[in-house]
Amino acid sequence: MTDKPSSGLTGPRFEEPVERRDFFGLAAVWSFFGMILTATLGALKLPMPAVFPEADSRFPIGKPEDFPAGPPKEIKRRRLWVLSDDKGIAVVSTVCPHLRCVVTRHADGTFVCPCHGSRFDATGKKTSGPSPRGLIWKEVSITPDGRLIVDSEREVSSNARFAV
Ligand code: FES
Repeated sequence: MTDKPSSGLTGPRFEEPVERRDFFGLAAVWSFFGMILTATLGALKLPMPAVFPEADSRFPIGKPEDFPAGPPKEIKRRRLWVLSDDKGIAVVSTVCPHLRCVVTRHADGTFVCPCHGSRFDATGKKTSGPSPRGLIWKEVSITPDGRLIVDSEREVSSNARFAV
């Protein structure tokens, strides 16, 4: 057994330096425990969904008289534009199908995504950019008490109108 001679001094400045072999041994042990802890936390998180679905995909947006034929109205909170003309009411999502940025609507009725530049015409059809498809039009219905309901999970064609 070959112990190193002690300097006889005490305090953190005078502690014997850690041997390289000891340092790598301790690093390996702590890395192992860190890996086990990370794997355990990951395994515990697996059963939980990353995204919780909305409780109800249907929500009211107002009464038909709130949307007279004319300029479209934006419902920012719901990320929708409501278009109303003499044929009825239509609702288009402002969420870009590419990576879910919110598109902006220009005065000429076209839509542009600020994130990667996808462009959509006034019917929501993609005209350029990386978006894999056009904007999504949502189904509109009405409750017995006369409130317009949008179903965010039901898609309709861009020329569908809910007649009021
Ligand atoms: S998120 Fe709209 S183009 Fe990428």
